[in-house]
Amino acid sequence: MKTNVYNIPCVRGHEAEIEAAAQVIREGGLVAIPTETVYGLGADALNEAAVAAIYEAKGRPSDNPLIIHVPGAHWLERYCVDVPQAAYDLAEKFWPGPLTMILPRKDNVPDRTTGGLNTVGVRCPDHPVTLAIIEAAGVPIAAPSANTSGRPSCTNAQDVLEDMNGKIPAIVDGGPCAVGVESTILDLTVTPPQLLRPGGMPLEALEAVVGEIAVDHAVTGQLKPGEKPRAPGMKYRHYAPHAKVTVLTGDGAETAAYIRAHITPGGGVICFDEYVKLFPDCVTHPLGAEGDKAEQARRVFDALREFDHTDVTEIYAQCPDDTGLGLAIGNRLKKAAGFHVVNLKREREHPMKIIGITGGTGAGKTSALNVLAEMNVEILDCDVIYHQLIQTSQALRTALTERFGDVFCADGLDRQKLGNLVFQNPDALAQLNAITMGFVEEEVHARMKQAEAAHRIGVAIDAIGLLESDVRYECDVLVAITAPAEVRCKRIMAREGISEEYAWNRVKAQKDERYFKENCDYVLPNDSTEDVFRARAVELFTKVLNP
Ligand code: TXA
Ligand code: MG
Repeated sequence: MKTNVYNIPCVRGHEAEIEAAAQVIREGGLVAIPTETVYGLGADALNEAAVAAIYEAKGRPSDNPLIIHVPGAHWLERYCVDVPQAAYDLAEKFWPGPLTMILPRKDNVPDRTTGGLNTVGVRCPDHPVTLAIIEAAGVPIAAPSANTSGRPSCTNAQDVLEDMNGKIPAIVDGGPCAVGVESTILDLTVTPPQLLRPGGMPLEALEAVVGEIAVDHAVTGQLKPGEKPRAPGMKYRHYAPHAKVTVLTGDGAETAAYIRAHITPGGGVICFDEYVKLFPDCVTHPLGAEGDKAEQARRVFDALREFDHTDVTEIYAQCPDDTGLGLAIGNRLKKAAGFHVVNLKREREHPMKIIGITGGTGAGKTSALNVLAEMNVEILDCDVIYHQLIQTSQALRTALTERFGDVFCADGLDRQKLGNLVFQNPDALAQLNAITMGFVEEEVHARMKQAEAAHRIGVAIDAIGLLESDVRYECDVLVAITAPAEVRCKRIMAREGISEEYAWNRVKAQKDERYFKENCDYVLPNDSTEDVFRARAVELFTKVLNP
C-alpha cells in the first residue's frame, strides 16, 4: 500500500484535502491525524472492520481499548450514558485539549473499539485540522497514538511515516505536536474520579475543577506480574527504546553527577540543557531547560525515539519532579526504563535516619546491627530478606525459573543446581544478581516505607554489596565495619566450621578494607574485644541518630 502524506497546516485553503481525508474515514480507511498531544491513527470508531485495521497496523493487543475523538461536549450524549455534571464542567474548561474522560458507553460504540469494556474514553483534540476532519466525516474517530505498539509515540508526521509507511493510505501532516505527551486520562465512572494516565493536562488543574482525584497505582509504579490496571494499556511495556534506560530523580546537579560517575563513554544521556556540556563523550539528547516542563514534554518522545537510530546500549535520563507536566514526563521516562529508577533524594515526611551498613564477611556487621536494634532502629538484613523472598515471592520464583529453568526442590531453592549454572558463567551470575537485587531492593523500599509510617527513628540496611547497589543513595550515612583479614578468617571458621583454606578464599574473594573505607562516611574497626567494639558502635550510632 502506498502511504500518501498530505501537508495540511491549517483549515483555510485546504478544504478539499480535509474532505478527502474525511472520505477515507467514512469509507472505513485509516488516516493518521495530528493532534496537540501526539499523532493519532484514526478510523471510524463505529465501523468494526475499520477499527480492526487500526489494531492490525499498530500490532496492538486487542484487549487494549481505543479512545474516541469528538468535536465537542455536544457529542457526549450520542455515545455515553449517565454523563455526570463533572464531565460537562471539565469539557467546558479544558476542551478542546489534552483530557480524555472515561464514561459509561452506549451500545452503538462497538466492542472492538472499547475492548469489550462497558465504558469508553472520549476526547476533543485541540487541532483545527483534525476537528474539521471529524466534523466532515460526521463520525467519531477512534485513534490510538500512531506509533507501532510498544514504541515511543509520534510527535511529528515524519515519525508516523517511519512506523506506518506502507501500512496505511494517508498521513495528515499538521505540523509538530504542541504538547508532546498524550492526553491525561480521567475515569469519571468511579468516586472519587481516578487518574489512569498522567498526560498533557496537569492533575492539579483537574483537581481545581472536580476536587480530589485518586491516582491509579500504574501511574507511579510498576505493576506486579498478573496485576490488572484500570487502563488496560498501562500494563504493556511502553515507549521503550532498544537500549536499557535508567531514570534519575532528584536535584539536577546531583543526578548529572551520578550519570557522569556511572556512564561509559559512548552511552546515551537524556538531560536538561544546562548539563549537556558535562557529557562530551556521550550521545546526548537535551530535554529542555531544567525549569521548562512544557519544552521537556515536547521533546521526551523524540529523545526516546532518536536513540534507536544510534547503537547506544545504555541510556541515563534526568527526570523532572512530579508536579504539573512533570508527572506525565516522568511517567513516560520511567515506563521506558521499565521503572528502573534511581532516586537520589527521597522525600521523607518524618526525620528517619537511614544507615547503610557494609563490610566483608566476619568483620562484625551482625554485632553492629544488634547494637542498632537495641537502639530501636529497624534492621533490614538483605541476606535475610533474600532468603525470605525465595520462600514467599512467587514473582521471584517465576523470574528465576524463566531464566534458569526449574531450580526449585521440595523445600525451596536448589542451591547446588543454581550454583552449578552460574558460578562458571559470569553472564549468568550477573543476571542472577540483577534479578535477586531487583526484588530485594523493592522489598527494602516497602519496609522502609512501613518503618517511616511507624515513626521509627531509623532503619539500618545491611548488605555486603551495598556499595554496588542503588540502595546506597537512599542512605543518609554509610558505615563500614572492618577487621583484619586474619581475624575475619578465624571468626568465619569458628562460626561455620569450615577449613582455614576455604575461609581464606572467601575473605580474599571480597573487597578489601581500603575499598570500604574509601567509599563510606564512617569506619567502625572491630579489631579488639567485643566490649570495645560495642562501645565504639554505641558512640557512633548515637551521634548519627542525634545529629
Ligand atoms: O493524546 C492521546 O490520548 C492520543 C491522541 C492520539 O489522542 N491517543 C492515545 O491513545 O494516546 P492510546 O490508545 O495510545 O492510549 C489510550 C489509553 C490506553 O492505555 C487505553 O488502555 C486507555 O487509554 N483506555 C482507552 N479506553 C479506556 C477505557 N474505556 N477504560 C480505561 N482505559 C481506557
Ligand atoms: Mg499509545
